[in-house]
Amino acid sequence: MPLIAILAGDGIGPEVTAEARRVLDTLGLDLGYEEGLVGGAAYKAVGHPLPPETLDLARRADAVLFGAVGDPDCDALERQFRPEQAILGLRKELGLFANLRPAKLFAGLEDASALRPEIAREIDMVIIRELTGDVYFGAKGFRTTADGLREGHDEMRYDEREIARIARVGFETARTRKGKLLSVDKANVLETSQLWRDVVIEVSADYPDVALSHMYVDNAAMQMVRNPGQFDVIVTGNLFGDILSDEASMCAGSIGMLPSAALDGTGRGMYEPIHGSAPDIAGQGKANPCAAILSAAMMLRHSLDLPDAADRIEAAVAEAILGGARTPDLGGTLSTRAMGDAVLAHLG
Ligand code: NAI
Ligand code: MG
Repeated sequence: MPLIAILAGDGIGPEVTAEARRVLDTLGLDLGYEEGLVGGAAYKAVGHPLPPETLDLARRADAVLFGAVGDPDCDALERQFRPEQAILGLRKELGLFANLRPAKLFAGLEDASALRPEIAREIDMVIIRELTGDVYFGAKGFRTTADGLREGHDEMRYDEREIARIARVGFETARTRKGKLLSVDKANVLETSQLWRDVVIEVSADYPDVALSHMYVDNAAMQMVRNPGQFDVIVTGNLFGDILSDEASMCAGSIGMLPSAALDGTGRGMYEPIHGSAPDIAGQGKANPCAAILSAAMMLRHSLDLPDAADRIEAAVAEAILGGARTPDLGGTLSTRAMGDAVLAHLG
């Protein structure tokens, strides 16, 4: 029986993860669950945001369902004890190099988007962000120059193996959708991006059925608000993907609606809403659980080979939204639990 590690975290993490769990339980799937402490909850209990038992559980599990971390009580701690280190540690330790972020406007939520309704309605894309390379993981440094100026540097680097494996995820994903892949880079000025573009083109030889195109990242950022309906599957590096996916999320309505998957290429993955622990609303039953519920659906599809169950969850969320179910972030009054109930009601 597949094992799911439930790492609910702190803040609204446990509230939204509980609803995702209720949805999974209702489907009656043959899955085992084990809970682990992570983030501020782990720090408060055992003095570390990513305890060895939790890392061990994540390694043993077939998939990790993650809530959110970011307890403000931990803000003053040294960086290594901050809750966010747990996510970075899990990504690195589990080799989760491919971050899939679907951004889609659910019918009925046009008013929630930062864009005009007729533009927002067209949004339905997947951004595939490389997650374990680029400027975040290159050499970094700080020094004071001979003239007494403070100077910082972060090296942007990718090797061809790292680029090829994320490109393949892009092409494979494109095959499951419209057969279109857009690679975003800055090849006009960056060597890293020139290599990126060269390697993506080389890999495209294995995917003659997918139409590949390229765009510079600054133009992509502009197009994201001008005409996001043109995007289907986007593959890009860690830094560009970080920024573009946040931009896409606001175009698609509430942050409480967007799930994500971080994959290692073998089927194992960590699934989490893109939002954080929302300390401003934690403990009040106001959080929108849809992103967590949709993350569970992604888990069933990508790690557990249960696409039909994933489809059922996604359809239930879409129907609940269309039927007018709204938490406060969507302009409604439903509690976290009541929103979970609305989704369950449509699961049949
Ligand atoms: P956040 O995503 O936690 O909250 C931003 C705003 O969106 C807040 O006003 C919050 O109330 C609202 N919001 C977020 N999720 C919501 C939901 N499901 N339903 C309704 N409203 C929701 O980002 P913020 O405030 O910048 O960060 C809070 C903490 O979370 C920080 O410590 C940050 O480092 C951490 N964080 C953790 C992430 C993770 O666990 N993967 C990701 C992003 C931030
Ligand atoms: Mg970000």
